[in-house]
Amino acid sequence: MWTKLKSLAQDAETRKITELFEDPGRAEAFSTSFDQTLFDFSKTNIDAATLAALLELAENAGVATKRDAMFSGAKINETEGRAVLHTALRNLDGAPVAVDGEDVMPGVLKTLDRMSDFAGQVRDGSFRGQGGAITDVVNIGIGGSDLGPVMAYKALAPYADGPRVHYVSNVDGADIADTLRGLNPETTLVIVASKTFTTIETMTNARTARAWMSEKVSDPAAQFAALSTDQEKTGAFGIDPARVFGFEDWVGGRYSVWGPIGLSLMIGIGSDAFRAFLRGGQAMDRHFKEAEFAENMPVLLALVGIWHNQVLGHATRAVLPYDNRLVRLPAYLQQLEMESNGKSVAIDGSDLGHNSGPVVWGEPGTNGQHAFYQLIHQGTRVIPCEFLVAAEGHEPELAHHHQLLVANCLAQSEALMRGRTLDEAREKVAGKFEGDEMERQARHRVFPGNRPSTTLIYPQLTPEILGQIVALYEHRVFVEGVILDINSYDQWGVELGKELATALGPIVAGEESAESKDGSTRQLVEYVLKHRG
Ligand code: F6P
Repeated sequence: MWTKLKSLAQDAETRKITELFEDPGRAEAFSTSFDQTLFDFSKTNIDAATLAALLELAENAGVATKRDAMFSGAKINETEGRAVLHTALRNLDGAPVAVDGEDVMPGVLKTLDRMSDFAGQVRDGSFRGQGGAITDVVNIGIGGSDLGPVMAYKALAPYADGPRVHYVSNVDGADIADTLRGLNPETTLVIVASKTFTTIETMTNARTARAWMSEKVSDPAAQFAALSTDQEKTGAFGIDPARVFGFEDWVGGRYSVWGPIGLSLMIGIGSDAFRAFLRGGQAMDRHFKEAEFAENMPVLLALVGIWHNQVLGHATRAVLPYDNRLVRLPAYLQQLEMESNGKSVAIDGSDLGHNSGPVVWGEPGTNGQHAFYQLIHQGTRVIPCEFLVAAEGHEPELAHHHQLLVANCLAQSEALMRGRTLDEAREKVAGKFEGDEMERQARHRVFPGNRPSTTLIYPQLTPEILGQIVALYEHRVFVEGVILDINSYDQWGVELGKELATALGPIVAGEESAESKDGSTRQLVEYVLKHRG
């Protein structure tokens, strides 16, 4: 099938996306909708034959069987011997899901209720700090224990009616210092979010927060909560089990926002809105399980990704939300996609034999337009773009802003596809320049066009819609992983750096010699030792 797709790619090189629109039914045929969300991939160079081949690729890869295995609790994370069941966290009707023969749902729903109770108490002031009701919550976590909640908290700002929530992730002391400055320790709740409760950045920040709090609060541990799979370690840190919200190893860090790791979000927006977020995710799960592949949004999003990255060889994809509150979505998707599918070994340990997942990057529009879109439009490399936009904002009094936002989003995908020919460019400069100079000036104004993009459009960024979007991308990663024969649920590639950082700690502290290190590392250590105060 890869060979067939490569030959279809050669055909695609000879045609323009605009020509595909000679078919008046193209927009509808190369789009799919779920609930009220529409995914339009018609502005790509995928024609009917290519789509059929891509769908066959998904069928042949066993996506349906592996999807069912994932939902049923099979241990598809083979290198770690774990099930992959973040979907159970949003399985709100509690239909049984078994791991090792045991239904995990009673435990999931019980923890969700405990989270709701605690979040309710923090929000209504019945859980108090030494100085009274909680005004600020600081979530300390990194990677999946930070990016999911912070992305969603920012996305759902219009629903945030609880205490202010802040996020600290970086071990750079600047992060926690800037966050804690101005907060009152007597009315602050610190949530330590770490699946393993060993991550050096998180534990360092947690200890710093405890020291900060103990300067003013007689029992700082009473204003700490923990989110982790390891209750022994949370106990050793001194956090009362009543404020420990546990989860199991079948929830991967980057898939964990739906459970206890989402506690800060729940405190910020309330249990009802948080459950609406879960309902959105659950609805997307149902769609993913039930819809035919030809109408299945995660499958189609994945196939567009495979076409662009593995078949056409475009190494990156830009995620461009025309929704300012999705400012952290690109960062969130960087972890979700790159930590999941950035691997060069197939599940059986052999070499992958094709490109791993792409580099994912982006920024909200319209800001990106005034920064890096130049390269997207006229650079020598093709960057497939994924636009996201809501029909309506949350500021009815600023509807004219939203209209401008939408117009810009649509204009970008149109411009990328249409481009501007040399003749059109000549018309632009005619009368301003003459002869060779006119020609030279015109050439600078040519847009190659024929650049692919997709658009995900939804009514409004509500908790439910956000849940749909996040689950959509999770399943996209799953489908791409299956097609690429990658285990999307381990992350061995983060280990080496962690080991070396541990070894370098005493060297950078000046306690051990850098002798065993390479010349560059020795030089950098020397520089640090010489220049710090
Ligand atoms: O270093 C990678 C990683 O393990 C991520 O997969 C994870 O989301 C992050 O670190 C944080 O891990 P933890 O929640 O255990 O602190």
